[in-house]
Amino acid sequence: MKKIRALVTGGCGFIGSHLVRQLLISNNFEFVLNLDLLTYSGHPENCADISDSRYCFKHASINDKQNLLELIKKEKVDVIFHLAAESHVDRSINSIEPFVRTNIGGTQTILEVIKETGCRIDLVHISTDEVYGSLGKNDAPFTEKSPISPRNPYAATKAASDHLVQSFVNTYGISAIITRCSNNYGPRQFPEKLIPLMILNGIKGDPLPIYGDGLQIRDWIHVEDHVNGIIAAYDGLRNGNLSPGDVINFGGENEKTNLEIVNEIIKQIGNSTSEIKHIKDRLGHDRRYAINNKKAKDVLNWSPKIIWVNGIEETINWYKNNEKWINSIISGEYRNWISKQYKDDF
Ligand code: NAD
Ligand code: DAU
Repeated sequence: MKKIRALVTGGCGFIGSHLVRQLLISNNFEFVLNLDLLTYSGHPENCADISDSRYCFKHASINDKQNLLELIKKEKVDVIFHLAAESHVDRSINSIEPFVRTNIGGTQTILEVIKETGCRIDLVHISTDEVYGSLGKNDAPFTEKSPISPRNPYAATKAASDHLVQSFVNTYGISAIITRCSNNYGPRQFPEKLIPLMILNGIKGDPLPIYGDGLQIRDWIHVEDHVNGIIAAYDGLRNGNLSPGDVINFGGENEKTNLEIVNEIIKQIGNSTSEIKHIKDRLGHDRRYAINNKKAKDVLNWSPKIIWVNGIEETINWYKNNEKWINSIISGEYRNWISKQYKDDF
């Protein structure tokens, strides 16, 4: 069987760095090219230990069309796993411009490049459950048929990129699928997001900032389960179980309130002196996300494997044992963000 040549966009970010590793474990991939702009959330350290000869890193932007076109042709790329994005909701509330540029403009570039090569290049577009909007407490979880109803600027740019992908499938016949996953956790997540922020603050004894009442619900999935789903979705596209234009949802079957998450982290850290502090709510804060995994189970034979209590313990230990990584991540930019975002609260 022909070996696959893959391009991963955003491979120095949290999920991308796990996907790159997982692709290299598989014998099906003869080449894995990681293209990343190394923005504040993308770190070379995230892939520094990868020594596989099939792996290659390119420092570039998905918005640079000419470079992308030449690279894809030169490297004879068969599939693009597109993860590069601006990913933090709070930052999108502060300033939408980079979100429009990267999430919409960057996806536009990738689509145009695929079209212009004139060859079949598969696209696995990594989207999010946030495009479906917010659920009430007793609503049924999102399915792939749930209406698209984004409620914050980040989610709106992701939804726009999903629509662009679908329009290129329909208009130009490109071979693309879309995955929509719930909240990921695990090693190497940038500590602006809830779980790593609470772990770092908990280890240091700093306050634990909870937006509003903390009863918002997310469905947490370990990042390794997510990347296994992404690879299974690509397999599905190749073997005909999925068709161009198909959407596939992934979730952890693990709904928890933010307060439950933070209490669990503090309990597992053990001797933390940190205390929860309720602070002003996120603007437009979505109340609940939940995913129906039936399609992924039935069509891809995928299911989440990592149990929350084990996954969060392993994640906390990873942050405890990787001080060098933490010190390299919490640069001036990170400190600026934390002091700006929480300035009225601490
Ligand atoms: P992240 O912020 O950790 O990583 C994003 C990466 O994209 C970084 O390495 C960054 O340098 C890179 N990047 C940004 N702009 C770029 C550009 N113009 N060109 C090239 N690279 C660029 O994000 P993440 O949490 O790993 O999320 C990855 C993808 O998965 C995103 O598309 C996100 O929307 C989606 N997603 C995330 C979650 C989650 O819980 N984190 C859940 C569902 C879907
Ligand atoms: O659902 C998938 C999405 O999950 C992804 O598409 C996004 O890229 C990812 O960032 C994540 O979005 P959330 O907004 O759900 O994640 P975040 O970790 O920022 O927040 C999780 C919850 O915790 C949310 O209800 C807001 C709350 N929160 C977050 C922070 C940073 C707090 O209460 N305090 C905080 O300081």
